[in-house]
Amino acid sequence: MQRTLVKDALNAAGPSDAILLQGWVRTRRDAKALSFIELNDGSCLKGMQVIVDATLPDYPHVAQAHTGASIEVVGRLVESKGQGQKWEVVATTFKVIGEADATYPLQKKGHTLEFLREIAHLRPRSNLFGAVFRVRSRLAYAIHQFFQERGFHYVHAPIITASDAEGAGEMFRVTTLDLENPPRGEDKRVDATQDFFAKKTFLTVSGQLEAEIFACALSNVYTFGPTFRAENSNTSRHAAEFWMIEPEVAFCDLFGDMDLAEAFVKYLIRDVREHCAADLEFFSKFVDKELLTRLDFVLEKPFVRCSYTEAVEILEKSGKVWEHPVSWGANLQAEHERYLTEEHFKCPVTVYNYPRAIKAFYMRQTDGCAEGRETVAAMDLLVPGIGEIIGGSQREERLDKLRAGMALHHLDEKAYWWYLDLRRYGTVPHAGFGLGFERMLMFVTGVGNIRDVIPFARTPGTAEF
Ligand code: 4AD
Ligand code: MG
Repeated sequence: MQRTLVKDALNAAGPSDAILLQGWVRTRRDAKALSFIELNDGSCLKGMQVIVDATLPDYPHVAQAHTGASIEVVGRLVESKGQGQKWEVVATTFKVIGEADATYPLQKKGHTLEFLREIAHLRPRSNLFGAVFRVRSRLAYAIHQFFQERGFHYVHAPIITASDAEGAGEMFRVTTLDLENPPRGEDKRVDATQDFFAKKTFLTVSGQLEAEIFACALSNVYTFGPTFRAENSNTSRHAAEFWMIEPEVAFCDLFGDMDLAEAFVKYLIRDVREHCAADLEFFSKFVDKELLTRLDFVLEKPFVRCSYTEAVEILEKSGKVWEHPVSWGANLQAEHERYLTEEHFKCPVTVYNYPRAIKAFYMRQTDGCAEGRETVAAMDLLVPGIGEIIGGSQREERLDKLRAGMALHHLDEKAYWWYLDLRRYGTVPHAGFGLGFERMLMFVTGVGNIRDVIPFARTPGTAEF
């Protein structure tokens, strides 16, 4: 007999004489002549109510079906007389597959997110995390769908790389560990013999530079993979390992890039609104009451576009006392991003044309800037509640200007010879951006901490699994 998922059983068009359900016990309530079990299999938020009659030969097994136990039920799908569900299952056979005793940590009561983080191996069985990870899966699917529908090709960028894509030096180094001769004594520094490729290599911070290689061949490409940052930021929106989506488009400028980013974000919101409706309602009930209104609002209006210079003026005129002072040339901090999106514009904002000195070496220099006010064609998409979810730019396609940018950032040209080659042979204007997958998930679920939207958080101090 084929297994039916709870999701399909709950949406059944009509009753059925025999269906097979397999899953885990959420709750059990024993009445005089029957027991009610909520069986959850992770296919959707809701569980199926299973009724086991005391006259059933398998009834004695019900006593072993504690919260957390895995069970298998064959039964009749019938219309429910109770409130809250259309269908229920009246068991004809009932089996406990794997018991769970009273030490099972996910008993039916409220648990703190901090506690659930400590049991990352069990938290996907809770309502909240089941919902988060279903939405995560759907979002990944929608991302591929968005790009594939538009003729973009999926490129797999390397995880181990020799180049620092952001030039920010926030990389994890890859070395071999000689277990026969572990480093001894005080000095445990890595030496050159431990470099696996006889060359310093690192975990990638971004697949952008490799995506540029492919955009300069296949025109429209995207990467979607794990990226790593050795920034020791202990905030609710930074992780050492996170996933990034990076489209790269040949023959595209900064404004085309912003259009793509806006269409992309709206597409993803629309998709999860439609395909994860029950999970999103759960979030709006238990996590963030404003969630659905905010998402619908974001879909309605064009995002505001505001140059960095205008943003600085707005912040200066705000009358606010900032923790980090605002002045032309300084990076925007979380408090500034939040003010722009939450208080001033009250909607997503794309800030563009940032000062050259605070942005990466590969960004295209804006022509005709006043002295001391040099900018690059960078753009960040800021959203209420989170701040930056996208960082992107038009790339510097002119060889001489790129070299000047590298010199400004003290980068060694030799290490980027292949990147310079892209400008030597058939260079084209091109642009792209990176969307932080977890930040997008925080935005669509209302979950406030990045540790709670990633299956296994890699933030300073959490690497149990
Ligand atoms: O702004 P970032 O650093 O841009 C890049 O990496 C470019 N190479 C992207 C490109 O143009 N192809 O990072 C892009 C996005 C950020 O806007 C943010 O959403 C996310 O990646 N991000 C992080 N997410 C979680 N934890 C971190 N430590 C993150 N750092 C960046
Ligand atoms: Mg950024």
